[in-house]
Amino acid sequence: MSPVEGLPESNAGYGTRQYWEQRYASEDQDSSFDWFLQPEYLLPLLEPYLHECGKGKDVRVLMLGCGNSLLGEVMYDAGYHNVVNIDYSATLIEQMIARHAEKRPDMQWLEMDIRDLKFNEGDFDVVLDKGTMDAMLTSKGDVWNPPDEDVQNCRTEVEEAVSATFGQPHFRKRYMLGHDHFDLSYKDIGPPEGFSYFLYDLKYQENTESQ
Ligand SMILES: C[S@@+](CC[C@H](N)C(=O)[O-])C[C@H]1O[C@@H](n2cnc3c(N)ncnc32)[C@H](O)[C@@H]1O
Repeated sequence: MSPVEGLPESNAGYGTRQYWEQRYASEDQDSSFDWFLQPEYLLPLLEPYLHECGKGKDVRVLMLGCGNSLLGEVMYDAGYHNVVNIDYSATLIEQMIARHAEKRPDMQWLEMDIRDLKFNEGDFDVVLDKGTMDAMLTSKGDVWNPPDEDVQNCRTEVEEAVSATFGQPHFRKRYMLGHDHFDLSYKDIGPPEGFSYFLYDLKYQENTESQ
């Protein structure tokens, strides 16, 4: 970590497990931090996607790179109990299990790498990513010409995801296009003042060609 408390030496640090392990180990057990957008702002924007499968609040959600964001907790408290949170920091997952076990017993927290998911096809209705692809894309800098490894990592991630990111469409579409039977759409989700964020929706469509 850098001499500036909590920051990596360079942006590439955000793309390493070691950085996140150290960061979470150095934080207070109860700390939380939401990258980009606050859950209260984001959840109403996500709800149309959550409800598309027709299961209401029983929708099965996979949260990629959950960190200690409050999004999962806010969703749970709003009635979404089938949320599985994964992150590759073992320290973070231990903290989350301890923090939520009593109040949110149905919520699951699993140590897992997004590039090596241990689920079966069809286990989830919606996959959410808030800021995680952004962390995975910080490895080598040039957003105009990302290394193949980054493209592959992110393509693995986005096969079925709704992604909230600061990545503008020009830069992000290249990671999300090219999946057979998936349709990509995106929109600017504000907030009304300041920096704009985007919501990408990559959706499975039985009968469409790849874009
Ligand atoms: C920028 S933070 C976003 C955290 C949270 N989603 C939020 O909105 O505040 C990125 C998180 O993704 C996790 N992460 C990064 N790459 C990962 C990977 N390949 N597999 C699993 N987790 C990963 C990090 O440990 C970190 O907790």
